[in-house]
Amino acid sequence: MDDLVARDARVLWHPATHFEDLARLPVTPIVAARGAWLETEGGRRILDGIGSWWTSIHGHGHPHIVAAIREQVGRLDHVMFAGFTHAPAVELAEALLEAAPRPRADQGPDYGRVFFADCGSAAIEVALKLAFQSHRQRGHEERTRFAALANSYHGETLGALSVSGSDAYRSTFAPLLVEPIYLPVPAHPDHEPQQLTSELGADTPQAEAAVATLREHAHELAALVLEPLVQCAGRMQMMGVGYYRRIVEEAQRLGILVIADEIAVGFGRTGRMFASEHAGVCPDLLCLSKGLSGGVLPLSAVLVRAGFEDAFRGAPARSFLHSHTFTANPVTCAAGRASLEVFEQEDLLARLPARVEAMAQRRRAVAQRCPAIRHHRQAGMIAAFEVAPSPEHPGPTDGRLGLALREAAMRRDVLLRPLHDTIYWMPALSIEDAELDRLAEVTVEVVQEVLG
Ligand SMILES: Cc1ncc(COP(=O)(O)O)c(C=O)c1O
Repeated sequence: MDDLVARDARVLWHPATHFEDLARLPVTPIVAARGAWLETEGGRRILDGIGSWWTSIHGHGHPHIVAAIREQVGRLDHVMFAGFTHAPAVELAEALLEAAPRPRADQGPDYGRVFFADCGSAAIEVALKLAFQSHRQRGHEERTRFAALANSYHGETLGALSVSGSDAYRSTFAPLLVEPIYLPVPAHPDHEPQQLTSELGADTPQAEAAVATLREHAHELAALVLEPLVQCAGRMQMMGVGYYRRIVEEAQRLGILVIADEIAVGFGRTGRMFASEHAGVCPDLLCLSKGLSGGVLPLSAVLVRAGFEDAFRGAPARSFLHSHTFTANPVTCAAGRASLEVFEQEDLLARLPARVEAMAQRRRAVAQRCPAIRHHRQAGMIAAFEVAPSPEHPGPTDGRLGLALREAAMRRDVLLRPLHDTIYWMPALSIEDAELDRLAEVTVEVVQEVLG
């Protein structure tokens, strides 16, 4: 297996990885995965506390999804999606529209159509282009700009990066990017799951300023793009459901299309199928990926409201030019369809409140045992701990706090990938109590090891 690591080091380039860190924390070869566990060839089992970058909803290797993929790949592996169609795409689109948030009578039409792509960033590109072009073709050529939230993350292709608010990802490429109008966003560092039924954040100074900025720039704004409730890559900051509701409603009132990026928070992560449901809002475009295929294959989708496509009818020049080679690949769509079936078969949404509470109990217990944890928060099945060095325990001298915590967790066979000072849990929704106990125990140990 060492051989594989050495060969990897010679020929591969890993995402989100510094070459210099590889000597200190080499990549780990994985040969199998089941449920919340990754396995190495030597039989080492690693608890996946972050659902393999927030994708694994039902756990790895779910038999229903694996069977659906096997069946589909033996029948139809791929066909181009221009000029052809197939049951997995149609059935997945139908099931997504059925599962999508339902608008109230005064909130316009239901979601009516699905555009598939292959990763989260591509879904954002699609949504930005759709929003821009739809305004142009409805006679609003002046609406050419986008609003985005400070601290946001929407992916790393140039369009998605343009509307991301984090300098860490953005600054190198800034000369290539379109400049959005940023809106301030509140952070509730001690957010509790019950607060998803409140008005939290609605009357903050950030909400006031965001609304004022939307009003000032409404004439030039094509769309507002935002992550509902949790800015995941932005250190799991939680904005408050009241803030989310208020700015979505304000944008829509001003004729600004709302693009909800539910790529990370969709599919049960916040305790409901889609995070927007907590706020009772219906964004105009809903971007999905990660858990969409059950976290097994690359797939993304943009849902639009019925009638949105009318602006694209007419002359050929009015059509939407955005085509990825593997759009709606049948095997990925079969995985997506099977993943939604698992929600039904396992009555997963009804079981989520108990899982959320099980996680909350462990989160509180962890925080109690670690003085270095200054804040801890949770929304649905996403929990985060903000740690802070103290004079007695200053943390790693090289400043690489996240790396030190990750390293300490891996030594204990747990996959955590802290965002600098923020350790978080985003495991499979099906994670069991004993596995949560292990996650909690190791979290305590790594915080104590690194920060006392
Ligand atoms: C909220 C959000 N949007 C977009 C993306 C980009 O998705 P992808 O990495 O599949 O391009 C991510 C990825 O983490 C994300 O968390």
